[in-house]
Amino acid sequence: MSNGDVSQGRRRFLIGATSVVGGVGVVGAAVPFVASWNPSAKAEAAGAPVTVNISKIEPGQQVTVEWRGKPVWIIRRTPEMLENIEKLSERMKDPNSEAPQQPPYIEGTVRALKPEIGVYVGLCTHLGCVPSYRPEIAPADLGENWLGGLFCPCHGSRYDLAGRVYDAQPAPLNLEVPPYRFDDDVTLTIGLDPEAA
Ligand code: FES
Repeated sequence: MSNGDVSQGRRRFLIGATSVVGGVGVVGAAVPFVASWNPSAKAEAAGAPVTVNISKIEPGQQVTVEWRGKPVWIIRRTPEMLENIEKLSERMKDPNSEAPQQPPYIEGTVRALKPEIGVYVGLCTHLGCVPSYRPEIAPADLGENWLGGLFCPCHGSRYDLAGRVYDAQPAPLNLEVPPYRFDDDVTLTIGLDPEAA
């Protein structure tokens, strides 16, 4: 990736992040930013892996870390969220993730190494805005069929909690899954494949 690509991605990230601040306030969702990561921000922007301790992420909570200048979301999904992802498959554009938006070792409906932990690049595949985390069931603004997911404020693309895009949306593809691995039960590294992969 050239430096131009990195700075462009960051600009989109910053613009998108700014645009969702109001929405987060309205729904009162806690979307903490993991402030400590490893190694330095400079090395990270150049593409170094990012290691995150996920032990404090509560069920149903989403946190954001930065990797290669992009926001990467880690979502700890509850059993109910996982059930709803399965229920939504028939409403998805690419329910089995046939487009290459994930590493080859990420398979299945929930698009994850461990079902309860989802890891996705938080940039809409339409024009790169940052979608909002909307885990609620049937909120007034998203309708009674909404079973929790991600909503892009720019042109309205909808994704489920596995980052799969609904049918008939501006976004053409599911959210990207970055390479990642578990170093142990509570330590996740973004930017490295599992040892066995
Ligand atoms: S950038 Fe997300 S819908 Fe257009």
